[in-house]
Amino acid sequence: MTNFMKSKIQKLKQDALKEIKSSETFDFLKNIEKKYLGRKGELTNIFHEIKNVSKEVRKDIGKFANQSKKELEIALKEAGENFKEATASKILGNDWLDITLPTEKKLGHLHPLSQIQYDIEDIFSSMGFMILDGPELESEFYNFEALNIPKDHPARDMQDTFYIKSKHQTPNAKEKSITNNQISNSQLVLRTHTSNLQVRAMQKYGAPLRAIFPGRVFRSEATDAGHDTTFDQVEGLMIDKNISIANLISTMKALLSGIFKRDVVVRLRPGYFPFVEPGFELDIECLICGGSGCSVCKGNGWLELLPCGMVHPNVLKYGGINSKKYSGFAFGLGFTRLVMMKYKISDIRLMLGGDLRFLNQF
Ligand code: DAH
Repeated sequence: MTNFMKSKIQKLKQDALKEIKSSETFDFLKNIEKKYLGRKGELTNIFHEIKNVSKEVRKDIGKFANQSKKELEIALKEAGENFKEATASKILGNDWLDITLPTEKKLGHLHPLSQIQYDIEDIFSSMGFMILDGPELESEFYNFEALNIPKDHPARDMQDTFYIKSKHQTPNAKEKSITNNQISNSQLVLRTHTSNLQVRAMQKYGAPLRAIFPGRVFRSEATDAGHDTTFDQVEGLMIDKNISIANLISTMKALLSGIFKRDVVVRLRPGYFPFVEPGFELDIECLICGGSGCSVCKGNGWLELLPCGMVHPNVLKYGGINSKKYSGFAFGLGFTRLVMMKYKISDIRLMLGGDLRFLNQF
C-alpha cells in the first residue's frame, strides 16, 4: 500500500513537472495548478485518500505527499516568475523608449497675439522706444479727461465704456495737482484704449519720450464675428523737439514693413480724435492685390489700418510738457485685427476663446 501510493504520488508529480516545463503561458500554469493542487486536484485527492490508510504508514506517506506538493508549488512559482521576466523583456524589446531623445512634439507655443506683440516690441525697441505697461482698471481721468475728452463731450460716445463702481476713489497726487476738483469724483473704468498710458508716461518720464504701450482694452459691446469685449492694442508715442508728420509717416512705414516683411505704401486721410490735432486714419495699399482692388480690400485698393495724429497741446499740458517747445505724434494700432488679417481669421471671438483646435494651428 505504501509503495503503491508513493509511486502514484511520484507519477503525478513527474507528470505535473513535465507539464509545467512545457507550458507557454500564465493560463497554462494556472490550469496545471488547478489540475493537481486545486480543491478537486489530483494530488489533493490523494491527501483525502491518505486519511483512510492505517496509522502506521500514514505519517510516512503524508510526509512524502507534502514534500511533493511543496516541490510542485515551488516549480509553479519559479515558472511563473520566469514568465514575468520574459514578458517584461519582450515589452521592453518591442516598446523600448529612449527618454533622453529630444521630443518631436511641440510642448507649447506663443499665442498669435503674443507673437505679433513681440514682433512689434522688437521693431520699436530697435528704434529706441521704451515698452511700458499700465493699469487696465483706470480712472476716467487718464482714460478720457487727460486725453482732451471732458465729461459730456460727445466723443465719449465713440467708445462703449465699462464703468466700475467703487466707493474708494482716491486720485494720486499728480492727478490731484492737475485737475483738482475735476478728478475728485473721477470714477474707475476698464480702459477703453491703451491711450490711457499717454499722460501717465509723460508725467513719469517727461520729454523727450519714445514709448509704446501694448495691452488689452475693453469695450461694452454686443459680441459678434467682428466685435469682442476684449481685444489688444498697441499705443505709441514720440515726443521731442521738431517732431512732424514726416516722422509719424516714416515710423509707421518702419513698423508696417517690419510686420509684413516688405515695403508698404501708406496714405493718410483726415480722422477725428480729440487727443490729436491733426488726426488721421492711416491706410496701407492692399497687400493682396497691390492696389488694383480685390475682395480683401473690397475693391478699393486700400486697407484701413491705424488711427494716428499729432499730440494735441492740451494733452501735452496734462502730461506736464511744454507744448511750445515740444511736439509729438501718437498712434493706436489694434493688433487683434492685424493678426486676423495676417491669418485670415474671420471671427474675432476665436482669438481669446481658448479653443485648442484653433490655437494649435499657430
Ligand atoms: N485710442 C483710439 C481708439 O482706441 C485710437 C487712437 C486714435 C490712438 C488716434 C491714437 C491716435 O494714439 O492718435 O479708438
